[in-house]
Amino acid sequence: MQNFSEYLRSKEVSDDLMSVLETLEESVKQISCSIIGGHCCKNAGSVNSSGEEQIALDLQSDEIITNEISKNSYIGLIASEEKPGEERVGRGEFAVCYDPLDGSSLVDVNLAVGSIFGIYKAESFIGVRGDDQLASMIAVYGPRTTILLTVKSGVVEFSLNKDGEFELVRDDLKVESGKMFAPGNLRACAFREDYKKLLAFWCENQYTLRYSGGMVPDVNQIILKGKGVFSYPAYEETPEGKLRLLFECAPMALLMEEAGGKASDGRVRILEKEVSYVHERTPVFLGSKEEVERCDEYLG
Ligand code: AHG
Repeated sequence: MQNFSEYLRSKEVSDDLMSVLETLEESVKQISCSIIGGHCCKNAGSVNSSGEEQIALDLQSDEIITNEISKNSYIGLIASEEKPGEERVGRGEFAVCYDPLDGSSLVDVNLAVGSIFGIYKAESFIGVRGDDQLASMIAVYGPRTTILLTVKSGVVEFSLNKDGEFELVRDDLKVESGKMFAPGNLRACAFREDYKKLLAFWCENQYTLRYSGGMVPDVNQIILKGKGVFSYPAYEETPEGKLRLLFECAPMALLMEEAGGKASDGRVRILEKEVSYVHERTPVFLGSKEEVERCDEYLG
């Protein structure tokens, strides 16, 4: 079974990009240890730049990634969902954006959470498009710690084994068709007849509900089961939705498209959207082509 580095070598990933990805792999191992340790579930008593409450584990995960990145001279720029803006960290060409711990409100109830990473070569994140990513990956901290990775050559899954190594467990993951839905922001149904109608379509057509409250495990599930749709639309109280284009939606969209699925904001491909500020939010629909096209048709 190939490990993380062996896989990257087999895909002829350049040495510098490989080094960047190995840095992120190491961060994921450390975050996984922190979560299993379980010492950091208390409220940190602070809020992040978007005013959301941070728990100690959010901050610790952010510190782990920032610290690992500081050791890698190929990385010159970072942006974290836990930090107010982008930060120059060196002269390296690579730019890494990340959500260190997505779904952190699920930690205290022991549901799965995750990290999200997008990798670019850029001087600034302002003006990049998701299509500019060289690679993206998500880590899921559940009963197992796993990674879904794309280096723009399909999507593969790694699982952390008992020796502390990520080993390749599934490759060439594909999202085709199938009736499964993960409907976020159902509050919007109180204001949007179109979302209510889409919800009715899913229910009347006997779709299976699989929603955890964490975008990472929800999208991870769609890619691994090879079917379904995740939705997080906007409505007047949250006119751009909740999820961040740079930290969450663009890396997920790259994984989804590399698996043969689609990702849209209801009108435009997520990967075509230019980032105008690092904490920019966007409505998002991710999943099989058929299901995302249905979202566009009902909600676009
Ligand atoms: P957070 O990291 O603040 O817990 O947010 C998680 C995200 C995403 O993972 C999930 O799909 C979405 O928020 C759910 O949001 P709401 O439950 O607030 O609608």
